[in-house]
Amino acid sequence: MIEEIRIEDMNSEEFIREKVDEISSTVGEGVAINALSGGVDSSMVTILGHKALRDRLKTCFIENGLMRQGEPQEVVSLFAELGVHVELIDAREQFFEALRGVTDPEEKREAITRTFYRDVFGELVKESNAKYLLQGTILTDVDETVAGIKRQHNVFEQLGIDTQKAFGYKIIEPLAQIRKDGVRKVAEAVGLPESVYNRMPFPGPALSTRVIGEVTPEKIELVRQATAITEEELAEVDAFLKLAILHDDRVTGMRDGQRDFGLQIEIRCWDSIDARTAEPTRLPFETIERLAGRIISEVPGVVSVTYNVTPKPPSTMEAI
Ligand code: XMP
Repeated sequence: MIEEIRIEDMNSEEFIREKVDEISSTVGEGVAINALSGGVDSSMVTILGHKALRDRLKTCFIENGLMRQGEPQEVVSLFAELGVHVELIDAREQFFEALRGVTDPEEKREAITRTFYRDVFGELVKESNAKYLLQGTILTDVDETVAGIKRQHNVFEQLGIDTQKAFGYKIIEPLAQIRKDGVRKVAEAVGLPESVYNRMPFPGPALSTRVIGEVTPEKIELVRQATAITEEELAEVDAFLKLAILHDDRVTGMRDGQRDFGLQIEIRCWDSIDARTAEPTRLPFETIERLAGRIISEVPGVVSVTYNVTPKPPSTMEAI
């Protein structure tokens, strides 16, 4: 059972000091590795790890082919400015291969988990001699996985999985006692820029959580374009999460006077504090209309755009 540190009881400086000490004493003189996605959780872990281990922490950005437009290069250059070298690992083929033909949501998550932790990381760990993987699991990830709601890609020990046996390394989770609001608070205290500590969450399985049915490079490209437009059009909206989903089923539309059995994009925009519950943001109708207009004209084949008005629960934020 993990003991929660509530945001109102948390002293950020103390938390940072304790976690840096814990990482140092666990890893000892050894080498550790971590994956940075640019999100607030993995960014915070990267900084804690570098404070504790300096160049004995190898930080990688795994280019899985499922990230948003321009994301890999942006993250690598932002951390270069912060003095942290990040190695870009191209694993696109491995991920798309693992996802081929998989349609069940939990099987998709499982395929990503396996590819990430066993195949890609297993190899990197062997090459680098690392004994530990540092990762940014937060308490909400653990809760939802243990409750059987969504198998978050980064939860193992709490499910009784021995990562040493399964993948050949141990996992350290410095953020497992706090939730998203707590991570933002310590990320600000540690000196990360606002673009990081206030960054919108983005799930580990990335855009694959926003494609219903089989994930292919072509579908990811469509949802990537819809995501970029959604984030641009809603940039001024103060919401927890803004996303676009590509549906698997088609609907009859019309284009240039012809029948077009086309694609459907669903937009979701969430208000939430800690991701456990959420409400759809009450966007002005004109905003939704403008966004839909851009998606149907810029994303090939889309004839329908909808806006989700269901709260979590019973919805969850991401589609799979
Ligand atoms: P859900 O869809 O579970 O999302 O309501 C709650 C928050 O968690 C993010 N999310 C994930 N994050 N690995 C992650 O690191 C995952 O597998 C995952 N699934 C969902 C989601 O973006 C939202 O912020």
